[in-house]
Amino acid sequence: MSHKISPSLLSADFLNLQKDIEMLNNSEADWLHCDVMDGVFVPNISFGFPVLERVKEIAKKPLDVHLMIVQPEKFIQQVKDINAYMMTVHYEACTHLHRTVGAIHEAGMKAGVTLNPHTPVELLEDILEDIDMVLIMSVNPGFGGQKFIERSLSKVSRLRRMINERNLSTLIEVDGGVNLETGKRLLDAGADVLVAGNAVFSAPDPTQMIHQLKNL
Ligand code: DX5
Ligand code: ZN
Repeated sequence: MSHKISPSLLSADFLNLQKDIEMLNNSEADWLHCDVMDGVFVPNISFGFPVLERVKEIAKKPLDVHLMIVQPEKFIQQVKDINAYMMTVHYEACTHLHRTVGAIHEAGMKAGVTLNPHTPVELLEDILEDIDMVLIMSVNPGFGGQKFIERSLSKVSRLRRMINERNLSTLIEVDGGVNLETGKRLLDAGADVLVAGNAVFSAPDPTQMIHQLKNL
């Protein structure tokens, strides 16, 4: 199976969201990564459900929703209502992660769990078989355009080993500082999905950059 590309809407032009979403619709992007921030779990606020309700009307790619918020279990219905394909919550934000993952599945969505840079993949030992995706943060969440944390590569390889040893099909997504160079190394380490914000939207030709990331 070839890898997936999930461009991050956070780096899009918010004055021209429709134009950027149409560009993504017509690109080789597999998913559309939507970063929701609350100013509590992360030191920034992005966009929320009223914006995503409009995004859903024109987006043709499955929505890959990354919630950087406390108590994400309170918003399962709202994420469902924007027709999200994947709902990803932070390990660090969920006291009852197993229950939250079950509720996401009950709502009919795929469930992803995100790890901050300091959280070891080994902590997923007892939840790995219950989830559809692990999102490895390769920057501290909250902002686009940050520098890739090298240590993330070892987390991806260790997680790849855990998944293969258990014969699971859990996807590994990586988010933060992904470009052609770090993207290639992440795929070699075992990543399945690359999120890219700045690399796509600051490229002279975003469609071509998505094509290049897709063909790494
Ligand atoms: C960061 C977000 C990312 C962000 C990545 O908190 O979760 O999805 O958009 O941006 P880049 O690719 O620019 O590092
Ligand atoms: Zn993200």
